[in-house]
Amino acid sequence: MTRIVAFNGSPKGRKSRTQFLVDAFLEGARSAGAEAETVFLAERSIVPCDECMGCWILNGSGECAQKDDVPALLEKAMEADFVLLATPLLMDSMSGILKLFLERWLPLMHPRFRAQHGQGSLPARTGRVPDWIILSSCSFPEQFHFQPMSLMFRELSKSFNNHLAAEIYRGEADLFGRLGEMAHLDVLNPYMDLLRTAGREVVRNGSLSQATAEALDRPLIPFDQYVEEGNAAWDRILEGTCRIDP
Ligand SMILES: Cc1cc2nc3c(=O)[nH]c(=O)nc-3n(C[C@H](O)[C@H](O)[C@H](O)COP(=O)(O)O)c2cc1C
Repeated sequence: MTRIVAFNGSPKGRKSRTQFLVDAFLEGARSAGAEAETVFLAERSIVPCDECMGCWILNGSGECAQKDDVPALLEKAMEADFVLLATPLLMDSMSGILKLFLERWLPLMHPRFRAQHGQGSLPARTGRVPDWIILSSCSFPEQFHFQPMSLMFRELSKSFNNHLAAEIYRGEADLFGRLGEMAHLDVLNPYMDLLRTAGREVVRNGSLSQATAEALDRPLIPFDQYVEEGNAAWDRILEGTCRIDP
């Protein structure tokens, strides 16, 4: 049976808007026979890698010197067929919590450089690092805001010698929460169905079809409408006539 472990790096933990998307994706994956769970990194103890190199030098076995929740989480990750990394876009990047977690994947890499595709890289120590599914949301309406983060995940996956089974990025995420009055169920419901389709495709084929990837990338509502409704909602929030729902 296909196993998927999702790591949600939102500081909001279970209240994360990105998790709406993760839940729909995993629902689709389960309907195709997968077993799936979500770990909320905000609830776990994760200390930074301080580059002591213990994992590479002292024991050479990849065992990390830090005593926190990460070694058990890494074990869980490595037993999965797919690891889903979920994060809000924060300052044009992944969340600090997810970054802290990924920096602790260093023990999975081998210390010796290897020349690959004309560039040096540190290959994965283990034979196989599960393929990644990347899922992220942001408030700005345009999808291009995810480009720097996408490039970073693509580069990182070369080092880990794994694949990106899916990259799902969702701008206009205020439609999923904060400005609840902007709830456009007519577009949100079909989008959730697309996420379920994406989950099924990854389990069945190991990747997204081009048609699904393209459909997931389309704007939910037009740019001008999103900006106008978002600003109007903020006017009401700042006047105190409407409450904020993160
Ligand atoms: C500190 C901070 C930085 C943010 N930076 C960006 C950003 O660079 N671009 C953007 O479009 N949205 C940005 N946002 C908005 C979040 O990406 C958006 O609200 C996201 O959907 C939150 O997801 P979550 O509920 O899963 O944490 C930022 C939010 C915070 C709190």
